[in-house]
Amino acid sequence: MIQDRSIGIIGLGYVGLPLAMAFSEAGLAVTGIDANPDRVEELNSGHSPIDDVDDARLGRALKTGVKFIASADAGRSLGEVDAIVVCVPTPITQSKDPDLGPVISAAEFIGQSLRKGQLVVLQSTTFPGTTTGPFREELEKSGLAAGRDFDLAFAPERVNPGDPTSSGREVPRLVGGTTPASTARAGALFENINDRVVPLSSPDAAEMAKLLENVFRSVNIAFVNQLALLCERMGLDVWEVVDAAATKPFGFMAFRPGPGVGGHCIPVDPYYLAWRTREFDFVERFIELAGDINLAMPRHVVELASEALNQRGQSLRRARVGVIGVAFKPDVQDARNAPAASIMAFLREKGAEVSYHDPFVAEFSDTEGEVYQAVPLERLLAESDLVVVVTAHNSIDWAAVYDRAALVVDTVNSSRGHVTRQGQVLRLGAGWTEPSAE
Ligand SMILES: NC(=O)c1ccc[n+]([C@@H]2O[C@H](COP(=O)([O-])OP(=O)(O)OC[C@H]3O[C@@H](n4cnc5c(N)ncnc54)[C@H](O)[C@@H]3O)[C@@H](O)[C@H]2O)c1
Repeated sequence: MIQDRSIGIIGLGYVGLPLAMAFSEAGLAVTGIDANPDRVEELNSGHSPIDDVDDARLGRALKTGVKFIASADAGRSLGEVDAIVVCVPTPITQSKDPDLGPVISAAEFIGQSLRKGQLVVLQSTTFPGTTTGPFREELEKSGLAAGRDFDLAFAPERVNPGDPTSSGREVPRLVGGTTPASTARAGALFENINDRVVPLSSPDAAEMAKLLENVFRSVNIAFVNQLALLCERMGLDVWEVVDAAATKPFGFMAFRPGPGVGGHCIPVDPYYLAWRTREFDFVERFIELAGDINLAMPRHVVELASEALNQRGQSLRRARVGVIGVAFKPDVQDARNAPAASIMAFLREKGAEVSYHDPFVAEFSDTEGEVYQAVPLERLLAESDLVVVVTAHNSIDWAAVYDRAALVVDTVNSSRGHVTRQGQVLRLGAGWTEPSAE
């Protein structure tokens, strides 16, 4: 069995940078490559833009010899390393079709210096058939053949940024190679950083397993979002209902409603599968339905904002609305595809004056391209007719929010446990809170 001792990692973002740290800490020689020279310069200067890698950890890796280079630099190549792992983005187009541009350009870059005996692993989330299809075809333009001249595998990433339990050695690694030897070799590589490697029969199976994990989340979030709308109509509290169901020790997994889905995964990855199924004359109805429901949540939040103001005899037009939390989930700085971007654009469209507070995000753009600078919490609370809580970062002073805000739409149940006033808080999935909740 080949023991790979040096590795090139292409794409140094939320997935690639922590991976580079893990392999370096396991004793491999790591070369990190990124198409963005600013990212490379920032990393080489010892600053990490990624939540899960602090500057001290990056500094230690730089001292032990981790190198970061920009793929844009002429003459750079990965010809020297034993193994290459690709962690570039896999976005969707405006019409929600897969955009394999970064994956193909990474393959093209590898192809320029691919040599016999190397191992290439694709780690970006993508539809079944990418590794054995377009990715392989691009690599083979080098004249070398997968399985004969080089090893090729798919091994998806499962990290959940901001959640330390999701990035450790304990999380099993799925690996599917184009040949049994490629599977075994890629598995041995990941055994450096994962306690358990799960070999699969093909890259396609590994690609599908990763999408199953993400579609599962999307569908369950959509189901509970829809239940929240029903609870509003029925005068029930969805948060109480989900907590109650979650006391069942088996056969139930709690998902909670919210203002919509965000980040690089849940609003994007399911469409990779939906697109691929069409080639098989198959319509993946769960994916489309879940996407629809989740995409409609920001508009529902704006309806709640309108309803809350209406109760005070006000309207959204000319109201000062302060949004709390624009990152796509609590305690991270990642604001990609965040529902706050749609909510803020819709609020502006209705004539509201919108501002936001987020301790993790200094500047933010809504979906219509309007750019905002974060304002301090005190100011937001003092100057807003209505506060809309979109993301509940733990570091926010929630007691102050519920003590001082005039009126609140709470989309994430952040008001739980806080003293509230009659008619002050309208909760998604539950309606107006009783005074002095819990
Ligand atoms: N972020 C997550 O939570 C997460 C979790 C699991 C899987 N994934 C998957 O991992 C992949 C990477 O996601 P991410 O969140 O790390 O993305 P990211 O945007 O944080 O980082 C990607 C990096 O790749 C660089 N890049 C883009 N094209 C390139 C190219 N052709 N050559 C070299 N570098 C290039 C970018 O400059 C960027 O620094 C995606 O497929 C994503 O779906 C992400």
